[in-house]
Amino acid sequence: MIDKGINSARQKRKSSEARSSLMVFPNDTNDFGTMYGGRLIELMDMVGGICARRYTGTKAVTASIEDMQFYKPINKGDIIEITSNVIWTGTKSLIVKTKVTKEEYTEEKTVCSRAYFCFVAIDKEGVPVVVPELLIESLNDKKNYSIGQEIRKRQKLEEKRFQIELKENL
Ligand SMILES: CC(C)(COP(=O)(O)OP(=O)(O)OC[C@H]1O[C@@H](n2cnc3c(N)ncnc32)[C@H](O)[C@@H]1OP(=O)(O)O)[C@@H](O)C(=O)NCCC(=O)NCCS
Repeated sequence: MIDKGINSARQKRKSSEARSSLMVFPNDTNDFGTMYGGRLIELMDMVGGICARRYTGTKAVTASIEDMQFYKPINKGDIIEITSNVIWTGTKSLIVKTKVTKEEYTEEKTVCSRAYFCFVAIDKEGVPVVVPELLIESLNDKKNYSIGQEIRKRQKLEEKRFQIELKENL
């Protein structure tokens, strides 16, 4: 029998999404009243993780966070919205784009942060498993997919550098 490889059995799937809105309270902020970066990353990771799980239908762990941008400050009392969607898939990994917007007292939304979360799908034993292949339908899907490819390339170089640092105890 001819082995057609892993890809012949893979399903294709549309990107999934996750979103969450919340109001920024004093315990989310630093000592000068703007949102604490670590708290924002935590929330982004959570929403990104929900998006990844909806897509893979398995557990998914965060393997790396790429290109985290804190573009505009978020203030106490602002309403923030975190949105995530899958933009790229490998064999067992996927990249979820996560964006944060804020609203003050109008409905106008300002983009404040954005990052690319690399998730790896795992089974109950924590072993990486194959993810569905991403269906590319629109021009925006295509553009986001190319961004994902570029991020993946850079992240592979970063992984190599990290291995060298570990080996050389840098
Ligand atoms: C992520 C993890 C499961 C990968 O395990 P692994 O044995 O290295 O996995 P593999 O070598 O089989 O690679 C599986 C996939 O993960 C990707 N991957 C592994 N390490 C990665 C990293 N640091 N960043 C991004 N992707 C990574 C590989 O590129 C591969 O992708 P592909 O199949 O699409 O090509 C493992 O490193 C881990 O458990 N890390 C800790 C995760 C964690 O605790 N996160 C925080 C809490 S959720």
